[in-house]
Amino acid sequence: MLRSVFLAAADSSRLGRLVSSASLGKNMARGLVAGDDIDAVLVAARELADDGLSITVDHLAAETATAEDAQATREEYVALLGRLQSAGLTPVAEVSVKLSALGQRLDEKTALEHALAVCAAAAEAGTSVTLDAEDHTTTDSTLEILAELRKEYPSTGAVLQAYLRRTEGDCRELATAGSRVRLCKGAYAEPESVAFTDALDIDKSFVRCLNILMSGEGYPMVATHDPRLIAIAEDRARWFDRSSAEFEFQMLYGTRPEEQARLAAAGHTVRVYVPYGDQWYGYLMRRLAERPANMAFFAHALASKK
Ligand code: FDA
Repeated sequence: MLRSVFLAAADSSRLGRLVSSASLGKNMARGLVAGDDIDAVLVAARELADDGLSITVDHLAAETATAEDAQATREEYVALLGRLQSAGLTPVAEVSVKLSALGQRLDEKTALEHALAVCAAAAEAGTSVTLDAEDHTTTDSTLEILAELRKEYPSTGAVLQAYLRRTEGDCRELATAGSRVRLCKGAYAEPESVAFTDALDIDKSFVRCLNILMSGEGYPMVATHDPRLIAIAEDRARWFDRSSAEFEFQMLYGTRPEEQARLAAAGHTVRVYVPYGDQWYGYLMRRLAERPANMAFFAHALASKK
C-alpha cells in the first residue's frame, strides 16, 4: 500500500517541486545522495575507495528529458568521467546511466548516439558504463541499445529486474562471456501482467535468475541489500566455483554500510551506487517505496542533527 503511494508520488512533478524546494526534503535526501555536483560526488567516491569499495556513479537527471536535457546529460557524464580519471578514481569507479535521461523516450537513435559518446568517454578514462533499468515499457529498447553499444564497448553493463516475468529469459540471453549483468529486484510500479508483485515471488525469481547468471559465462553483479539473497549469492558462487574476481555485490550509497564493509572484509568486490545531482526527488521516493522504515530512519537522523 505505502509502496504504491510513494511510487505514485515519484511520478508527480508538482509534489516533486514542492518536496525538492523544502529543507525537510533536502535533509531527507542527504545520506542517500552524495551531493549536488561533481565535486561532491568525487569526495564521496574517494572515501568509499579509501574503504576498499568500488563505485558506480549515477547523475540524477529529469526522467522525461528534452533534447537539450539529453545533450546536457551527455556532457555531464563526459565531464564526470574526465574528473574521475584525473582524480585517479578509475577503474575503481564506473558510471551508471539512465537512457531516459539521454532522450530515449524522444528519439532512440539520438539516445544511442549520446550513449556511444558516454561509452567512448568511459573507455578513454579506463572504465565502463552500466545502463540502468527503468520501467518495463523501455526494456526492449534498452536491451537493443545495449547490444549496439556492446559491439564497440563490450564491457557495457546491463541491469535486469527480477520482478519482471521476462527476466529469466533475458538472463539466459545475457549470461555470455564478458557480459556484465546487474541483477536487482526492480524499483518501478509494474502491472501483474508483466511483473511478479508478491515479495516472495520476486525473491524466488531473483534466485532463479541468480542461478542462471552464476552458472553462466558472464560477470554477475548482485545488487541487493537482502541478507537472505546475499547469503544465497555467496552459496551459489561457491557452488559454481566463482572466485571473488568473477562476480560482485552492489548496494546503494548510504544503505547498510556495515554490510558493505563486512562483505568487502570477507574478500568480495562490493560496488556502491552513488547518485548525485539536484534532481533527487524521484530517486528518494523509490527508496521510500522500497523501505517505508527509511522514513523513521530519516526522522531519527534529522532529530539527532538538531
Ligand atoms: P528489499 O528492499 O526488498 O529489502 C529486503 C531486506 O533487505 C529487508 O527486509 C531488510 O532485511 C534488508 N534491507 C533492505 N534495506 C535495508 C536497510 N536500509 N537497512 C537494513 N536492512 C535493509 N532498480 C531498478 O529498477 N533499476 C535499476 O537500474 C536499479 N539499480 C540498482 C543498483 C543497485 C546497486 C542497487 C542496490 C539497487 C538498484 N535498483 C534498481 C533497486 C532495486 O531494484 C531494489 O528496488 C532495491 O535494491 C531494494 O531491493 P533489495 O533487494 O535491496 O531488498
